[in-house]
Amino acid sequence: MRVAIFGTRKYDRLYLSAANADHGHELVFFDADLDATTATLAAGCGAVCVFVNDRLDKDTLEKLADLGIRLVALRCAGFNNVDLAAAAALDITVVRVPAYSPHAVAEFAIGLLLALDRKIHRAWARTRENNFALDGLVGRNLHHRVVGVVGTGRIGAIVARTLQVGFHCHVLASDPVEDQSLLEAGVRYVPREELLREAEIVTLHCPLTPRSKHLIDAAALEAARPGLLLVNTSRGGLIDTFALIEALKSGKVGGVALDVYEQEGDLFFRDLSDEIVQDDTFQRLLTFPNVLVTGHQAFLTEEALTAIARTTIANLSAAQAGEPLENRITQDLVR
Ligand code: NAI
Repeated sequence: MRVAIFGTRKYDRLYLSAANADHGHELVFFDADLDATTATLAAGCGAVCVFVNDRLDKDTLEKLADLGIRLVALRCAGFNNVDLAAAAALDITVVRVPAYSPHAVAEFAIGLLLALDRKIHRAWARTRENNFALDGLVGRNLHHRVVGVVGTGRIGAIVARTLQVGFHCHVLASDPVEDQSLLEAGVRYVPREELLREAEIVTLHCPLTPRSKHLIDAAALEAARPGLLLVNTSRGGLIDTFALIEALKSGKVGGVALDVYEQEGDLFFRDLSDEIVQDDTFQRLLTFPNVLVTGHQAFLTEEALTAIARTTIANLSAAQAGEPLENRITQDLVR
């Protein structure tokens, strides 16, 4: 099948081409993200393959349907960028990679937490300038800290277990589905309000849905413990960035590590170092010494890229062969 692959970078081409070796799809790589203006690039293709910041709104999906495309293959787990109702109405099947390497994201989240808490990002900048002074770099032990994990699915469960068992934190969790093995490890499930009130550190691992949008808003930050450390490797829309900036300015929030940002679609996955970034909110975030931002990198390991590419190509082949699609996204996945 001829497949238009949008938003591709060097690593996408490498890993997808390798995974396709035994499948023989014709992969057409585009740098551009998919949206209503770029959809026509997919003319002549049987499917499109997209990532987290491609915009699959009703407009884009209609353009794809007009081109006769009935298959969208996401090479990621989250699908908040797809209008599933519109896809269903247009008879477009959407498949994804539900799990590739939860360890890649979980380990990165913990890495961000350690860097933030121990100010490693600031130390690194200093030592490059031969500044070995330690003033301002005092951190805290993770041992025995109270950590709130919001969402204990594939990724959150690894984070919760690692912090509870490996670092001897007191882990509080919030998820409509309780994980028995985490309970046995000593993790305590509590209502989200209690988690946000009690935790010294909160790490977000639930999907972005209409219900979870701005889960961390002004009220949540107001109720939080002073000095809260916040880590988000899930989706930017879980946090109200304006409220977060106010809480950073007042000192209520003690530090933030973000791998995702609500408006990241205009920024991430490209080199803007020669350009003037127009997003003042994002630029304000970067001015805080206690804010650490990475550009949606948590998934980026060799293992994850290999698994993503293999599942994506297998999804395409299964759809082409008319086989049952175990990775199909249906509306009941949205809670
Ligand atoms: P998963 O589907 O295995 O787990 C999500 C968990 O969140 C489930 O247990 C679900 O019951 C729970 N949940 C749903 N709504 C909730 C709510 N309102 N409050 C609390 N819990 C809720 O998903 P997985 O694989 O663990 O991924 C989590 C998220 O991580 C994805 O949705 C995606 O947005 C993000 N992600 C980020 C990556 C990155 O590179 N930064 C890479 C991969 C995923």
